[in-house]
Amino acid sequence: MAFAKISQVAHYVPEQVVTNQDLAQIMDTSDEWISSRTGIKQRHISKNESTSDLATEVAKSLLEKAGLTADELDFIILATITPDSMMPSTAARVQANIGAHRAFAFDLTAACSGFVFALSTAEKFLASGRFQKGLVIGSETLSKAVDWSDRSTAVLFGDGAGGVLLEACERQHFLAESLYSDGSRSECLTYGETALASPFSEQETLTSFLKMDGRAIFDFAIRDVTKSIKQTIEASPLEASDLDYLLLHQANIRILDKMARKIGVDRDKLPANMMEYGNTSAASIPILLSECVEKGIIHLDGSQKILLSGFGGGLTWGTLIVTI
Ligand code: ACO
Repeated sequence: MAFAKISQVAHYVPEQVVTNQDLAQIMDTSDEWISSRTGIKQRHISKNESTSDLATEVAKSLLEKAGLTADELDFIILATITPDSMMPSTAARVQANIGAHRAFAFDLTAACSGFVFALSTAEKFLASGRFQKGLVIGSETLSKAVDWSDRSTAVLFGDGAGGVLLEACERQHFLAESLYSDGSRSECLTYGETALASPFSEQETLTSFLKMDGRAIFDFAIRDVTKSIKQTIEASPLEASDLDYLLLHQANIRILDKMARKIGVDRDKLPANMMEYGNTSAASIPILLSECVEKGIIHLDGSQKILLSGFGGGLTWGTLIVTI
């Protein structure tokens, strides 16, 4: 039987930092409001790098750390809601940028669950036994998705990318998973809606900025996502206390506080970095994972059990428990 394991991690963020104080200069907000409601203190905002530029840096870093050449890759899956274009995919741009000639490449759209959905998909490719190595990257330039005149969303998001190298192995590392969508609640969180536009249609072309019913998403995270995390742990061979860390989507520090209590794990097991990056959607979990490895709290030596959970637009939510 074929199995998959995360063998390398990396992240990259644009250099420019925009603090809450910077935002207070251009809109009616304050550091006090933003940090007390969300935990966010600053975010990185791209000056001129695209989603594929950020992802390319991550891909290069993963190859360098692993000592691989791009030719050795079988696939690149890139999770994003802020692609450079609908066609070509951002993944195809990354494939060209790094010269991964043999790799097939595609984007996956599942908002803040995108990285977890992409990692689950990639694991199935490796479990098929037909592929040996692939990159799974979450990359976002949400600064182009938000309405900068809407303080209720503009303060929440940031740009960045993170990813992993997934390799075939002989032992099971993916221990449990659950993936969910509920399109009937899609209006809670929308971005980039388009309408029919042709000489024969009745509508005008329309694209929209990111809109969010923050309270509804908050409640969804606390109720549905927490419940599914608990169920995923129950369905796994582990107890909650066996988990070394739970890496959850970085949207709001209060969501993490409440989730830790409801799941019944020590709050210290839920690392947070939204203070520095804001909500980077599909990139938030791999950025956090990569930082945890850099800080030496996650070792990549096969000795730790980690839960990854994303939740957001769609609505979508998904959890994976992996040995790492
Ligand atoms: N600065 C100052 N005041 C503000 C700001 C701001 N930036 N934004 C809103 N306000 C005001 C509102 O106008 C409102 O004022 P009013 O009472 O006079 O009408 C007041 O603050 C309270 O607004 P609420 O929206 O009720 O604030 P809430 O406490 O719900 O916090 C927040 C909002 C932070 C968005 C919260 O609901 C949240 O974190 N939700 C979850 C978001 C999330 O998890 N997203 C993940 C998915 S993202 C994805 O998939 C791309």
